[in-house]
Amino acid sequence: MGEACQLAGQSNRLTLSAPFTRADFGPDFAWGTASAAFQIEGAVAADGRGPSVWDVFQQKKGAIKTGETAETACDFYSRYTDDIGLHTSMGFNAFRFSIAWSRVLPDGTGRVNEAGLAFYDRVIDECLRQGQTPWICLYHWDLPQALEDRGGWANRQVLDWFTEYVTLIVKAFGHKVKHWLVLNEPSAFTLLGYLVGMHAPGRRSIGSVTAVIHHATLAQAEGGRLIRDNVPGAVVGTTFSCSPVEPFSAGKRDQQAAQRADALLNRLFIEPSLGMGYPTRELSFLSAIQKRIAQPGDWERLAFDFDLIGLQHYFRVVVEHSLLVPYLWGREVSPNRRGVEHITEMGWEVHPQSMLTILRQFNQYDGIRQVMVAESGAAFFDQVEFGRVVDIQRVGYHQQCLKQVLQAKTEGINVTGYFVWTLLDNFEWAEGYRPRFGLVHVDHRTQQRIIKQSGLWFRALLAE
Ligand code: NOJ
Repeated sequence: MGEACQLAGQSNRLTLSAPFTRADFGPDFAWGTASAAFQIEGAVAADGRGPSVWDVFQQKKGAIKTGETAETACDFYSRYTDDIGLHTSMGFNAFRFSIAWSRVLPDGTGRVNEAGLAFYDRVIDECLRQGQTPWICLYHWDLPQALEDRGGWANRQVLDWFTEYVTLIVKAFGHKVKHWLVLNEPSAFTLLGYLVGMHAPGRRSIGSVTAVIHHATLAQAEGGRLIRDNVPGAVVGTTFSCSPVEPFSAGKRDQQAAQRADALLNRLFIEPSLGMGYPTRELSFLSAIQKRIAQPGDWERLAFDFDLIGLQHYFRVVVEHSLLVPYLWGREVSPNRRGVEHITEMGWEVHPQSMLTILRQFNQYDGIRQVMVAESGAAFFDQVEFGRVVDIQRVGYHQQCLKQVLQAKTEGINVTGYFVWTLLDNFEWAEGYRPRFGLVHVDHRTQQRIIKQSGLWFRALLAE
């Protein structure tokens, strides 16, 4: 393996060796950072943007743990040139961002907001000017509120609304953007948004969540088809949260709970797209889809041959049987209860080895051509001291994860990129601004940016 990667030019000189070099990942590997519109843009009322479910949800008492809102966020809306500049300065070659649906279609359908389209056009041009490949994610959780008022993802009409939105975007930008992701983490926005109520729109309904899941899966395939039909030479992807699941004990009931959790967290959205249907055997509640939700022709429409599957892995999950939710999945055994030593600010176990486990798991599917780590990162407690942020834990985290990715490549798994979550410390949904995932520290009062040690580490690695 390659030479040591050194962080030079620092006042309290720090040397961190990486057991690999950029070249080990191959010349075509995508090195990127990932972001989402609502988490960074701010400017929620600027230039005709309409409200999204998150604008409304964040105003509800107790919805955001810290009581904060994303009204300003990182002010990426005005600072995108400099922020993409910071990203470029670290040596990355790919910039992932999402489009806020309600910025371009304030009512979700119908009237187009040209100023919104113009903003994304400027962002794309800036990426291209700086030599960055733009990667657009079409849906990162911010459904226009006007559509939620009409039933949101639970209303089958969402398929028409989504088609209208995606068609608008691919026709507007398809001539300059070739890399596309349809949905970001469908299991998160469907389950957290419509079943658990922790995310927007904050609904808690086992009755509607099955319809929400089916519509999201159909939209995922439909979005893929629209991109492929409208964008010559497109790389069409979609991206999932994924966590290796382990039973807490070898007991049969814990093992069954683990199988259900695996079906829910890892299989629910990929298998229908591969033509395998839903994992109904493990998750019996999904049989409602076939019985009363699906319409003729849906089973064929669920499938789409994506060029690329994005994987977003942050933690492993350990579950045990629970009498409370015996059929849904089980109960998660918290890292604290398991005596885990390293836990992030999100309460997630630091367990980079499971990156390899999950890559292997997805590699077992026939029909996945390439996988990409579409997000990877960790929130640690960062402190600014003498104008610097020495986030050694984050450096170690990415280094460990990249090692797993390299191992996966060595085993023949076609991993084609690694996107850091994330460039800027930003609005972490229901957690507010407290957990910081960025390579760049942001003071959300002054909007001052400081590249953290982890950002300098990437700069050193990627400069090789
Ligand atoms: C996945 C989501 O896509 C992103 O929006 C979120 O901030 C990170 N995970 C960290 O929780």
